[in-house]
Amino acid sequence: MFLTDRKLILVLTSVVVSVFQSATAEEPDKNTATLRSAFKDDFLVGVALNTAQVDGRNANAGEIAARQFSALTPENDMKWQSLHPQPDRYDFKGADAYADFAEKHGMALIGHNLIWHSQTPRWVFQGADGKPATREELLKRMEDHIHTVVGHFKGKVKGWDVVNEALSDGGPDLLRDSPWRKIIGDDFLDHAFRFAREADPQAELYYNDYGLENERKRANCVKLIKGMLERKVPIDGIGTQSHFNLNQPSPGEIEKTIQAFADLGLKVMITELDVDILPGRGPQGNADINRREQADPAANPYTGGFPDDMQEKLARRYAEIFGIYLKHRRSITRVTFWGLDDGTSWLNGFPIRGRTNHPLLIDRQLKPKPAFFSVLKAGMESPAK
Ligand code: G3I
Repeated sequence: MFLTDRKLILVLTSVVVSVFQSATAEEPDKNTATLRSAFKDDFLVGVALNTAQVDGRNANAGEIAARQFSALTPENDMKWQSLHPQPDRYDFKGADAYADFAEKHGMALIGHNLIWHSQTPRWVFQGADGKPATREELLKRMEDHIHTVVGHFKGKVKGWDVVNEALSDGGPDLLRDSPWRKIIGDDFLDHAFRFAREADPQAELYYNDYGLENERKRANCVKLIKGMLERKVPIDGIGTQSHFNLNQPSPGEIEKTIQAFADLGLKVMITELDVDILPGRGPQGNADINRREQADPAANPYTGGFPDDMQEKLARRYAEIFGIYLKHRRSITRVTFWGLDDGTSWLNGFPIRGRTNHPLLIDRQLKPKPAFFSVLKAGMESPAK
């Protein structure tokens, strides 16, 4: 390839813009440049979608997602509160739409998630007479939920985030003091993974968390998973969510995390990638959904658009990140973006509500950004080619 980087990006831009505009999702042309084809010999490239993007209400977004991505994670609709809102009531209607969409478009479906401290109804942790549930009651509830949900999607889900965000963000304890841990004890993870394996022996089982590029949390994660492996708990992979910003974490820390998990002999997945471009004051990389920062107009500078110099910065950051992923392509099985486009990103509401963020590869008008082309270019120049 004798084209300069800028010329190559211009060529890619014209090909892909026409793909975004004219082609139909049902007939993806394997010769045109898409993320899913560019990385097909490296790893799956996934996207988290919402209901309107898979049920036809936002058809344009759905077509772009199907064309560009080879894996799909429901952003919210497989969480406990969506699937199992009341003790005797499961509701699979919303989540089934994702399974249909994934099947129709040849995308791997990722189940997110089975056990989390957030988005879980209060009744789950309550026993009789308003008292907290006992260990036995909660284990039984966990078993029923996992068997029913994993059983329902058996053969349709490639892998499950079995336990999400169990590690603490500080203090002496390895685990977060969630209701799961308080009521069942530290072995709640072992039980969750065993129930999931019983329900679908073919599905891959993952531990998923954020901030694993932090030295303390990475070491704790390794300790946690080593213990599980020693106890013969069935686990196949670790998902590092990867809610990054423009400067942090450093390339070195990103790489150390991938290597540390690969050294455990497990599959490594990047499960929720995005790059926050807005100013932040709190602990970077801490994606705890309950964390809030004080609103301030200075913290929301790009309401009128995303300037060229920032587009370039974001494109370079994504190129840096994908350079690392490609270097570790033999350990990484999937890289999933947390959202299709800037307009639907959770980062417009976190850690301050109502801001205008620009963290993804596709903008609010569903047009590819320079960052899209820098990632595409990385894929087209992958060592696998
Ligand atoms: O569905 C209701 C809607 O009926 C209501 O009108 C609206 C009003 O606020 O809220 C809607 O629910 C929101 C839901 O997203 C769907 O949009 C919840 O309030 C909101 O808390 C929820 O946020 C999600 C968050 O997880 C909590 O579940 C984000 O979209 C989702 O991106 C985020 O994803 C998490 C991963 O699961 C785990 N890792 C961190 C990641 C980012 O926090």
